[in-house]
Amino acid sequence: MSDAALPDFLPSRCAGRSGLMLPPLSLGLWQNFGRTRSFESQRELILAAFEAGVWHFDNANRYGPPHGWAEEVLGRVISEDLAAYRNLLVVSTKAGNPIMNGPYGRGGSRKHLLESLDDSLKRLNLDHVDIFYSHSPDKDVPLEETVAALAHTVTSGKALYVGISNYGAEATAEVARLLASLGVPLVLHQHKYSLLHRDPETNGVHRTLRENSISGIVYSPLAQGLLTDRYLTGRVPSGARAESSVFLTADFLTQEYLAYVQALADVAAERSQTVAQLALQWVMRDPTIASAIIGVSSVAQLHANLAALNSPPLDDETVTRLKGLSLQGRLGH
Ligand SMILES: NC(=O)c1ccc[n+]([C@@H]2O[C@H](COP(=O)([O-])OP(=O)(O)OC[C@H]3O[C@@H](n4cnc5c(N)ncnc54)[C@H](OP(=O)(O)O)[C@@H]3O)[C@@H](O)[C@H]2O)c1
Repeated sequence: MSDAALPDFLPSRCAGRSGLMLPPLSLGLWQNFGRTRSFESQRELILAAFEAGVWHFDNANRYGPPHGWAEEVLGRVISEDLAAYRNLLVVSTKAGNPIMNGPYGRGGSRKHLLESLDDSLKRLNLDHVDIFYSHSPDKDVPLEETVAALAHTVTSGKALYVGISNYGAEATAEVARLLASLGVPLVLHQHKYSLLHRDPETNGVHRTLRENSISGIVYSPLAQGLLTDRYLTGRVPSGARAESSVFLTADFLTQEYLAYVQALADVAAERSQTVAQLALQWVMRDPTIASAIIGVSSVAQLHANLAALNSPPLDDETVTRLKGLSLQGRLGH
C-alpha cells in the first residue's frame, strides 16, 4: 500500500494518557445503519468518512435495527473495501445495554460482556476491536466483576483499549482505580454532551475525567439533529430522525427550543457557518474531549459537519454568548 492511496487524515488527539489516537470527529453507526436503509447507502457513508480522513467508527452490539446489523455492515465494508487499511482504523463496540430478553441479554456480568464481544467480533469479521466499552453501569453486578471482564478483553487480545459509557463521576473514578490495579488504563468515557446537554460540565463527570487523565468521547453532539437547521421551521421534515425514532420526537420542538435554535442560527450566521458546525465546535473546544461522535444520514451532512474543523476557532466572546443562550436541563431527553 502506498501513502498516495491514503486519505489526508484529520488531526489526531490522544485518548487519556495512552497511544490511542482519535480524530476530533468520529462516525457513529447507531442510527442510519439498520436494515431500513440499503447496504449501498451505508457503505457510501462509511467510505466517504474514511476518504475524508475519519478513521474511528463507533459501534455497539445493539446498533441496527435489528441489533447487530450495524456491526455486520461495518464488518462487510472493512472486509470488502478497507481490509488493506485495517491497521489504520479504530473500531469500537460496546455491550451492556439490552439486546434480548433474559438475564444475559444485557448488563455488566462477565458472561454477557465477554460473550457479547465474541459475537461482535464475528459480525465485524475482526479478531479484535480497538476499543471495547461497558455501555452502561449495572447496579446488579459488582463493579469489580465488570471491570475484571473489561481488563480480560485487553489481556486476551480481543480489545486493545477499554472505556466506559454513561457512568457517573464517582463510578468512573472507581472504575479507573480498579482497572489500574489490574494494569489496564481507563482511556475513554463516552457520554452525551452538547450545547443542549451541558450536565457533564457541572455534575462532576468532566472534572473526574481531567483528574484521572481519562478522555471524554461525546455522543449526540448535535442532540440528534436538534442542533442543526433541520427543525428550524418547527416542523419535522420528511425522512428526518424525529419522524421515526423513539429517542427523538416532534414533542421536542417547543417554542422555547425554536427560539433557542434560532438564536444559535443567528450566532452561526455572523460567523458564516451552520448551526451544526457551531455546535460541533462547542464540544471540540473542550480539551477534556478527545473526539465527538457524529451521526449522519447523508454524505452531504458528513462533509458539512467535517467543515467545522475549518471554521474560525470559538473566541471567548462567542463562548460567553453561547453560555448565555444555554437551555441547560430544560429539554427532557
Ligand atoms: N454510548 C451511548 O450510549 C450512545 C448513545 C447515543 C449515541 N452514541 C454514539 O454516538 C453516535 C452519534 O449519535 P447521534 O446520531 O445522536 O449524533 P448527532 O450527530 O447528535 O445526530 C445525528 C443526526 O443529526 C442530523 N444531522 C447531522 N448532521 C446534520 C447536518 N449537517 N444538517 C442537518 N442535520 C444533521 C441527522 O439527522 P437526520 O437523520 O434527521 O438527517 C443525523 O442522523 C451514534 O451513532 C453512536 O455511535 C452512543
